[in-house]
Amino acid sequence: MNKQIHSLIAAALVSVTLWSLSAGGPGAAQAQDSKALIKALESPELQKKGAELFKANCASCHGDAGKGDGLAAAALNPKPRNFSASAGWKNGREFSGLYKTLEEGIPGGAMGAYSHLSVADRVAIINHLRTLAADYPKLTDAEVTKLDQAYGVAKGLENSKKVMPIPVSVAIAKLTEENAAKVKMLDQKISYIESHHSEKGAQLFLAAAAQPRRALSTLAHTPVWRNSLKDFVAVVTANAEQNGFRARVATFSKQDWETLHAYLKKTI
Ligand code: HEC
Repeated sequence: MNKQIHSLIAAALVSVTLWSLSAGGPGAAQAQDSKALIKALESPELQKKGAELFKANCASCHGDAGKGDGLAAAALNPKPRNFSASAGWKNGREFSGLYKTLEEGIPGGAMGAYSHLSVADRVAIINHLRTLAADYPKLTDAEVTKLDQAYGVAKGLENSKKVMPIPVSVAIAKLTEENAAKVKMLDQKISYIESHHSEKGAQLFLAAAAQPRRALSTLAHTPVWRNSLKDFVAVVTANAEQNGFRARVATFSKQDWETLHAYLKKTI
């Protein structure tokens, strides 16, 4: 299997190199490139994928229809952006502004960076977001040139495609290995918490979590909970039951929340 992975990587490197050679230097055939990039950014596959990715990654705060009214929104200040309202945007509603927000997040609040998502996934989400109001600025040559210069989006999209053809069997084997390692780590943390049951924080966690493994995995995937008590409450109470927590966490006192937050920050 190792050999197979090596030859895949080698093949990917060769094609990346060929791609960058064929792309020419900066400024080469720029107008043509930007037309091609607009087409790639708005490709039907990326349009389709965006709605699902938005639901999975963004709706808990921004709401299913992007009105800024997701389950976690009540606890947040500043509030999540309403994507159909045009006033008050910090990075702007141009494609490049939206991309900047996903690349860097918005400091000082609950809007984290999504730079761990592939370029293709980020573009897909932005495409979906842009369908939520009729007046998002159209993609122009100048706009995509700026986007590409700032973030290398054309190459990123190409690379997102190139990693796809890993044979399914290899991908599954890799996933299973990664999952087994993750599950083992979560289980170690849970048994640590269970064996320190005399600590108030541990008791609160076990009372809050219907499915401790899933609850910890939710926190691992939403690191923004570490930032502040508000973020923590927002993450735990957004879709509590799907995310491994009990609905009754909503009745925790402020002091319980503080104790639990401090405990988890030092423990996991
Ligand atoms: C944990 C809650 C939360 C999640 C999840 C979240 N956001 Fe946000 N988002 C916010 C908040 C809060 C703001 C407002 C930040 C501000 O104005 O300082 C915001 C603002 C934004 C903005 C406006 C930036 C601007 O220029 O003012 C965009 C665009 C955005 N989010 C996109 C997304 C996308 C896309 C996702 C999913 C990939 C996402 N957000 C997930 C909470 C969240």
